[in-house]
Parts: sequence; structure tokens; C-alpha cells
Amino acid sequence: MKSFKRTLLATALALLALPVMADSAHPKIGFSIDDLRLERWSRDRDYFVAAAEKLDAKVFVQSADANEQKQISQIENLISRGVDVIVIVPFNATVLTNAVAEAKKAGIKVVSYDRLILNADIDAYISFDNEKVGEMQAGGVLQAAPKGNYFLLGGAPTDNNAKVLREGQMKVLQPAIDKGDIKIVGQQWVKEWNPTEALSIVENALTRNDNKIDAIVASNDATAGGAIQALAAQKLAGKVPISGQDADLAAVKRVLDGTQTMTVYKPLKLIATEAAKLSVQLARNEKPTYSSQYDNGSKKVDTILLTPTPLTKANIDVLEKDGFYTKAQIGL
Ligand code: GAL
Repeated sequence: MKSFKRTLLATALALLALPVMADSAHPKIGFSIDDLRLERWSRDRDYFVAAAEKLDAKVFVQSADANEQKQISQIENLISRGVDVIVIVPFNATVLTNAVAEAKKAGIKVVSYDRLILNADIDAYISFDNEKVGEMQAGGVLQAAPKGNYFLLGGAPTDNNAKVLREGQMKVLQPAIDKGDIKIVGQQWVKEWNPTEALSIVENALTRNDNKIDAIVASNDATAGGAIQALAAQKLAGKVPISGQDADLAAVKRVLDGTQTMTVYKPLKLIATEAAKLSVQLARNEKPTYSSQYDNGSKKVDTILLTPTPLTKANIDVLEKDGFYTKAQIGL
């Protein structure tokens, strides 16, 4: 009798476990992206979906179009769809505490993609080393303009990366400030990394400083594009060194024609593929390999940090060698 009961129990347990096992063989992943309207994120999406499908996962993609409420309800929607993992590129780093808690309560793993979600119980974070990106940006500009008046064009104030980039930039700039070689004549964050906003910020900065700005440390290519338009209106494009990040096609062309000093190349296929692998491992309750930990205000988050590459005119062919663009696209 006892053994009959035990068999019955074992069968019941096995039946209960069945759907879970079936799920973990074909994990469902939600990908909640801040803003697919920006060039880089649609590439991240394409690479991520391709890599996840290769691992037998199914991906549901959502774009919040830079709207925090929309992102929260999209995450709630993914929770009710019963996904196994939610991968998030947060628009606002500080407002997802409750949404993440809800996901965790439903047994869903949460991965922070490229940007860190603060004060939330996330399972993992994957990004490029953003402090290094900041150092590369300031280093590239400082090499081109070792002296003079500097303007710092920061990223979105809602994005933790913007702050980390600035920390990296200041690491490089501070010694030159202390020596009296350079002077920061202004700094501003660009809402939503918006190029039009960057344009008007730099326009105003030029007016306020009688055009006496010798260098601009811009935190990505989109904002650098806006800034360069403002410089061009004053016939200063190509004369004022300026940095970027992302190797957006327009920026690569500006680097080649000399209006942008450098950009930072982050192989998006690599981060997307690694993130897909990580997500599937978490869904299958396997142990991913992490390279470090990052404090997000509520815990030390297991982190994978990838390495960025600074690009100038001299090594732009890296993009073609890496398959990021074709020769024809770059115009080499
Ligand atoms: C950052 C990201 C950059 C850039 C920017 C604007 O968080 O690291 O690569 O794309 O957002 O979307």
C-alpha cells in the first residue's frame, strides 16, 4: 500500500513537472526595449532574436518608445503571458522596482540589458564596460584638443550608463583640468539621448561662450550628430573635436569626413548573442559564467561586461572586418 501511494505520488509529481520541463526545453523570453526607433536597438533586437531562436527559445519583443509607463505595462503584459525570462533595456533605471518584483513573484528571471536597472531584484546584468567607453571618449578628444574650453554633453539623465560614462570621462579629464590645460565651460544631460535636444543645447552653449568651445565630449553618436549640426551652423564642424559611441552609420561617415573625431564600437552581435545564451541558461536553471558584480542599490548583481573598441579614421576598417557594415555601406 505504502509503495502504491509512493508510486502514485511520484507519478503525480512527474506529471506536475512535465509542463515545466517542456517549457525549459523551449523557453519563452520577453525582450522589453526602451526605444526601437534608435538605430542600435533594432540591431540588438535582430541579433538577439536570431541567437535565441537558435537555442530553441521564442522571443516576444516590445518597444516602450522612451515612455516609462508604457514600459511598465509591457513588462506586466509579458508577465501575464507566462514568459520564463524578461530581458529589459530600461528607459528609466529607477522606476522598475515593482515591475521586477512582480516578475520575480511569478517565478520569472529578469536580465538587465546594456543599461542597469537600479534598486530592483534582477538576476543578471550584461553590458559593455561603460566606464571604459567614457575613458575612450574623453581620451580621444583630449588627444585632439590637449588644451582649451571643454563642453560635456551627457546622455539621458534617466539612464545609469550616462552617469557611468561621465565617471570614465572625468577620470581622464580631471588631471588635465588640475594642470589648468582644459576648462569645463559647461555640461548638460540630453533628455532621451535626443539629437534635436543636443543640437539646441550646443547651440546655446556656443552662444553663451561666444563660440569659444574647443572640444565637446559627447556620450553617443546620436547626440554627437545634433551637436555637429550646431557646430556646422557656426562653420565649426571639423574644427571642434567631438566624441561619440555606437558606430552608427551616419557617425562612421562623419568620422571619415572629419567632422567627428571618434566613435566607440560595441559589437552588438556579441552582446545580443551572450544575452540570449544567458537568458536561456537562466530559464533552464543552469549557472551562467559571470565576469563581475555590480551594485544596483539593492544587491550585488551578477554581471557580464564586454570590451568596447575606440574607432578613429585610422582603424575604421574594423567594422568591415567584423561584419558590422559592408565596405559599400561605409564607402571605403
Ligand atoms: C546607452 C547605450 C548607448 C546608446 C544610448 C542611447 O545606454 O549604452 O549605446 O545607444 O543608450 O540609446
